[in-house]
Amino acid sequence: MTTIINGKKVSQKIREELKEECEEIKKQGIIPKLAVIMVGDNPASKVYVRNKNKACQEIGIEYEEYFLKSEITQEKLIELIEDLNNRKDINGILLQSPIPNHLDINEAFRKISPEKDVDGFHPANVGKLILNQDTFVSCTPYGIMKLFAEYNIDLNGKHVVILGRSNIVGKPLIACCLNRNATVTVCHSKTENLEEHTKKADILIVAIGKANFVKKEMIKDGAVIIDVGINRTDEGKLTGDVDFENVKDVAGYITPVPGGVGPMTIAMLMNNVIKAARLQNKNN
Ligand code: GUN
Repeated sequence: MTTIINGKKVSQKIREELKEECEEIKKQGIIPKLAVIMVGDNPASKVYVRNKNKACQEIGIEYEEYFLKSEITQEKLIELIEDLNNRKDINGILLQSPIPNHLDINEAFRKISPEKDVDGFHPANVGKLILNQDTFVSCTPYGIMKLFAEYNIDLNGKHVVILGRSNIVGKPLIACCLNRNATVTVCHSKTENLEEHTKKADILIVAIGKANFVKKEMIKDGAVIIDVGINRTDEGKLTGDVDFENVKDVAGYITPVPGGVGPMTIAMLMNNVIKAARLQNKNN
C-alpha cells in the first residue's frame, strides 16, 4: 500500500497552531510583521507573493509588500533592505526570487539582517544549519522535514538521494538530512548513471524543475518519494518532477503535486516569521 503524503492537510494543521501562537504572543505585545520585496513582474512570483499575503492575514501576521520596478538599481534595492533592517516593527524580510539579471541577488540576500532572514538564505544562517545550530531553515527543506516527522519517517541510517543542488532547496536539504543521521547522495545535471543512484535511495527528494522526469524504473520498491517540482504542462496542468501516476504504484510514500510539498513552504515561512518576532523581543 502506498501512502500519499497530504501536505495540504499537514500545512493546515501547522497554520492553525501558528494562528493560536500568534494570538498568544500578541497578548504579550509582540506583533509579528513580514515585509516582502518583489522586483519586476514575474507571473509565478506574483502568485507566490499573493499566497504569502493571504497566509499572513489568516494567521494574524502583519504584512507589508514592496513591488519594485524591474529597472531599479542595486543601490536602491539595498537601501530598501537596510531601511527594513532598521525598522523595529519589521521582524522578517523576504526578497522574492528571481530578480532581474542586472541585480546581484547574492549581495541582496547578504544585506538582509540574519535575525530577519526568514528565508534562511543568509550565509550566516546557512552556516549555522550546516553546523546543526539553531537558525532559520530555508522553508521548503524545513517543510519536507516536517512532513517526515508527521508521517513518522525516520531518516536515521537511511540513504537519502537528493536530485538538484540549488541554494534554495538541494543544498540546505543536504544539511537537514545529515543532521538527522541520513547518508546523503546529491545528484545533479552532470551526474553520470543517474538511475544507479536513484535506485539505491530509501528516500528520494527531487527538485530539478523537469516535468515527470523520475520514472518508476528509477526507484526502489517501497521508497519514499518527495517531489518538490512545480511545472506547468502545455495544457496548463500543474505537475511535479515525478511521474506520479506510475511511480505511486512502486513507492512506499509519495507527495502529490499540487498538495504535497508546496503548501508546506508557506507554512514554514509563517513559522519563521513568528520565530523571528519572538527572538527579536526576547530581551524586552
Ligand atoms: N522563489 C521561489 N521560492 C522561493 C522562496 O522560498 N523564497 C524566496 N525568497 N523566493 C523564492
